[in-house]
Amino acid sequence: MTRRRVAPSPPLRGGLTVPGDKSISHRAILLNLCAPGTATLTGLSTGEDVQRSLEVAQRLGATLHHSGNGVRITSPSAMLTPTNPLHCGNSGTTFRLTTGLLAGSKVRATLTGDASLRGRPMKRLSTPIQAMGGHVERLDDGSVRVLGKPLQQSRHQTAVASAQVKSALLLAGRHCGVVIHEPRQSRDHTERMLQEMGAPLRIASDGGLHLSPGVWSPTDVSIPGDISSAAFWLVAACVVPGSEVTLSNVGLNPTRTGVLDILQRMGANISIEANDEHEPTGRMVVRSAQLNATTIEGELTLRALDELPILAVAAAFANGTTYIRDAGELRVKESDRIAATVAGLRAMGVHAEELPDGLVVEGGRPNQCGEIHAPHDHRIAMAFAVAGMGSSSGCTITGAESVQTSYPEFFQTMDTLARGRR
Ligand code: S3P
Repeated sequence: MTRRRVAPSPPLRGGLTVPGDKSISHRAILLNLCAPGTATLTGLSTGEDVQRSLEVAQRLGATLHHSGNGVRITSPSAMLTPTNPLHCGNSGTTFRLTTGLLAGSKVRATLTGDASLRGRPMKRLSTPIQAMGGHVERLDDGSVRVLGKPLQQSRHQTAVASAQVKSALLLAGRHCGVVIHEPRQSRDHTERMLQEMGAPLRIASDGGLHLSPGVWSPTDVSIPGDISSAAFWLVAACVVPGSEVTLSNVGLNPTRTGVLDILQRMGANISIEANDEHEPTGRMVVRSAQLNATTIEGELTLRALDELPILAVAAAFANGTTYIRDAGELRVKESDRIAATVAGLRAMGVHAEELPDGLVVEGGRPNQCGEIHAPHDHRIAMAFAVAGMGSSSGCTITGAESVQTSYPEFFQTMDTLARGRR
């Protein structure tokens, strides 16, 4: 396990781009895998999770040609049956979306992953797939066995607002048709990409998704930077005094921009220039500012789901007490992020409490050199690296190699920004 000491940082200065959006990268690979033919994907995430989706696509019969910043993917008209289990590593999106796409195929396969992944909930997906007549079986070690077969058209009201579940059901229903309603709208990258691919998907005025059987066309995708990765630098620049950081080509899909709304409400100094593309993108300049406490709940919690640990860190530098609610889903991510965030904040001398579905953070400035454990959770490792940078005494992260999941260049970029080089 890698131990990484993070010292209080000098002002952060410079411009950067972050790795390609992880959610869009997975979809570019796995949706194109269902569209026989060739597509070029540029700007894919460099993290291990997306590597897993590429490997899965290859094992199921796609050929990949890497050149420069792009990957050309050629997908077969009939997927291959893999001889050994498909290894999804730490990647929940690979695990769930592949389960969905195999359920309605002619392929039989077992999907497995690391201990954290094999412990993650799958009933939310296996139950609706079983209602479509599919076979998804949880094995004793947490792996999943899928026996692909023709499915029946059906309607689903999902129990949780989860883009992974929604996307998996759309993939499962591609040959038979499916209707999906969510309790709240989760990120909509799949819907946007399916429309680009010419899939017969109608989005009703009540938000319901109606997918009819039809052919999906292979489609080139240019992937913007991941706002979930940009979030670490947005907060770092807020809390390290004297900082000014410019982030270019960051994805600004409105189902993902809760972090910007929350930070701006907390008093962050962020200016944004947005381009209105199919997946909106933009450039942001962030300068340090004194933050104020806030309450994050409801729809805003969902629009900032993956950013809640780094927002809790922002709250530790704010004036006042911040409440994060409606975030029970954080307990079933790569780790229990409510417990991990509270433990990390306390280790750094911050008063924080767990709620069943969230947390409470008393602001100030972390002042204790704590040890943070993040072996299976990239976002906990990076959130606390930022806490260490802004604190008066730094911190130590154990399991810091977990940043490989989404942002292998994270610590290098941290050093570059602290040296003020562009
Ligand atoms: C993701 C959806 C979210 C998010 C995860 C990526 C996706 O998970 O937390 O990091 O790409 O669809 P849930 O669908 O479980 O909420």
